[in-house]
Amino acid sequence: AHQWRGVIREYADRLPVTEETRVITLGEGGTPLVRAEKLSALTGSEVYLKVEGMNPTGSFKDRGMTMAMTAAVEAGAKAVVCASTGNTSASAAAYATAAGLTCAVLVPEGKIALGKLSQAIAHGATLLQVDGNFDDCLEIARKLAESYPVFLVNSVNPARIEGQKTAAFEIVDALGDAPDIHVLPVGNAGNISAYWKGYREYAQDTEYGSGVRPAVSTKLPVMWGFQAAGAAPFVAGHPVTHPETIATAIRIGNPASWDTAIAARDESGGLIDAVTDEEILAAHRWLSSKEGVFVEPGSAASVAGLLKKHAADEVPSGRTIVCTVTGHGLKDPQWALRTEDGSEVEPVKVSNDVVSVAVELGLDHTA
Ligand code: F0G
Repeated sequence: AHQWRGVIREYADRLPVTEETRVITLGEGGTPLVRAEKLSALTGSEVYLKVEGMNPTGSFKDRGMTMAMTAAVEAGAKAVVCASTGNTSASAAAYATAAGLTCAVLVPEGKIALGKLSQAIAHGATLLQVDGNFDDCLEIARKLAESYPVFLVNSVNPARIEGQKTAAFEIVDALGDAPDIHVLPVGNAGNISAYWKGYREYAQDTEYGSGVRPAVSTKLPVMWGFQAAGAAPFVAGHPVTHPETIATAIRIGNPASWDTAIAARDESGGLIDAVTDEEILAAHRWLSSKEGVFVEPGSAASVAGLLKKHAADEVPSGRTIVCTVTGHGLKDPQWALRTEDGSEVEPVKVSNDVVSVAVELGLDHTA
């Protein structure tokens, strides 16, 4: 039986590794591409969800982290550092443990989901809550790596982008060609840059260290990125000083991969737009209650964007559309316990007997 070997071994001929590379992996990638029945029925297109919450630490960050940690080990690093809105810190902490390196993470104080904080602590990272936002944390992490003996594993490290581009490869391998439209959330903008790199490399004969690999796909998707309305620098056209959104994963005002994200948008003939927190929570509810897929709020920005474009009659029918949902719902589960009108969900209490349970469920006796 074949076991998925992680993105580096599965795509070694398209990544900057050699036979001698000591691969740091937790078996990331190989995530499900789930057909979204209700979104497909709504739009008249084939809509798929790339469910990245199924990675080892529950987010897409693991694809980049296997490469970044492998590069850190190759460079002889003893310690790694990252800034994070939560998922990168969880992933860095886990992969540093696997590599035998120490890990420091800088997070914005009070603004990361409890599940992610727990992961970083569980894996033994030194977690520092900075009195500032993600953009402040990233600036400190970059300066730290410049002047001190620590290896930076944020997506400004090109190894991260290399690893993350494998998600595009997997989608083409599963569908037989690139989708017509690819939709994803945008925060620090590493992921949209990575997907575009992956799609481009698969659409043409591409030279890697070991030689030329032939094209796999016949076309390129149009890239649709969505930011949270309170943290939408690409929509504003300039960095945002005080980003705000309930989707803490993408609460970012000064994206590091600015130019490559703009290139992905423009070269693909795509767009980067914003969705409100209400639209994000509505998409979060849609995914869990209609499709059976539980994601964290930031992940739902892609589907919120698709629903917004559908409402504006701007989603074509008869096409193939992939929405990346970036992180698992269990990272930040509290949002499921709120109804549409904002009230708390109280699970019903029932006495310890079958008739009471049947009555509560509205069931009629069968015999
Ligand atoms: N979705 C989730 C769940 C994320 O955690 C992030 C980024 C994004 C989307 C946006 O991806 O930054 O590549 O545009 N999280 C980073 C972190 C910033 O620190 O975990 P991006």
